[in-house]
Amino acid sequence: MVYLNGEFMPIEQAKIPVLDRGFIFGDGVYEVIPVYSRRPFRLGEHLTRLQASLEAVGLSNPLAAAKWAELVGKIIAGNPWEDQTVYLQITRGPAKRDHTFPKGLKPTVFVMASELVPPSAELVRSGAAAIVLPDFRWLRCDIKSTSLLANCMLRTAATQAGCAEAILVREGELTEASASNVFIVKDGTVLAPPKSRLILPGITYDVVVEILRANTIAHQIRRVAESELRSAEEIWITSSSREVLAITTLDGAPVGHGGDAGKPGALFARIHALYQEYKASVMRAPAHA
Ligand SMILES: Cc1ncc(COP(=O)(O)O)c(C=O)c1O
Repeated sequence: MVYLNGEFMPIEQAKIPVLDRGFIFGDGVYEVIPVYSRRPFRLGEHLTRLQASLEAVGLSNPLAAAKWAELVGKIIAGNPWEDQTVYLQITRGPAKRDHTFPKGLKPTVFVMASELVPPSAELVRSGAAAIVLPDFRWLRCDIKSTSLLANCMLRTAATQAGCAEAILVREGELTEASASNVFIVKDGTVLAPPKSRLILPGITYDVVVEILRANTIAHQIRRVAESELRSAEEIWITSSSREVLAITTLDGAPVGHGGDAGKPGALFARIHALYQEYKASVMRAPAHA
């Protein structure tokens, strides 16, 4: 079951006009919310980021936070899986084609869910392959916009190279990956680029930084040079669907040094375990706590 503009229906019945600006211009924003045991994870944070994306593109939020929570709850209840990914999208709505944002449009609001399948135990144990590509996206990567053509091109290049992700560099510095944030380990310290207009402020990134802080694991949020990425002891990617995943080969070369090169590192194992613990504790907490 999906939701479109006030109604619930099977996905086959959900239709939008061809002049919808989401279709014509990619003029819309979205969120992807992981759901574990039918409970949305970090819903408040996702709704706050949604609000920021809407404001950045001059759209007003069609629903109050409580209404979003209610709607997300209904979508979760209306779908068969215990663990889900709830996808929601707001576009500026249908209008005569014109680049300037027209005034007074009725936004299109769409929500769907799919099954959430986290990385397999085998993938967590082995880690994944990535390639490094130039970040040729725009300069507002902080907006979670549905205009994802560049990200799709970059991810497709990674897939064609037999890799799970494309890690992106701009002017000699690490930004993020095509659909995830990136952390590295250098001299035993975890490094991640600071939030800026060049990366999406990941909700999973925040969870990982909180875990690092809470467990006094050495870390620095600072700009990361491409050379540091390429010589890292460990590389991790984070996203709502992949949680924390080790990257164990970069451009075909093993990540890390010594005998453990090409295998997920010790810090990854620790963070992964802490992340799972944190998730379980949140899911055990009383509802609406
Ligand atoms: C470009 C990009 N960066 C980072 C992320 C990670 O964000 P989150 O942890 O909120 O899923 C995503 C998520 O899909 C993304 O598309």
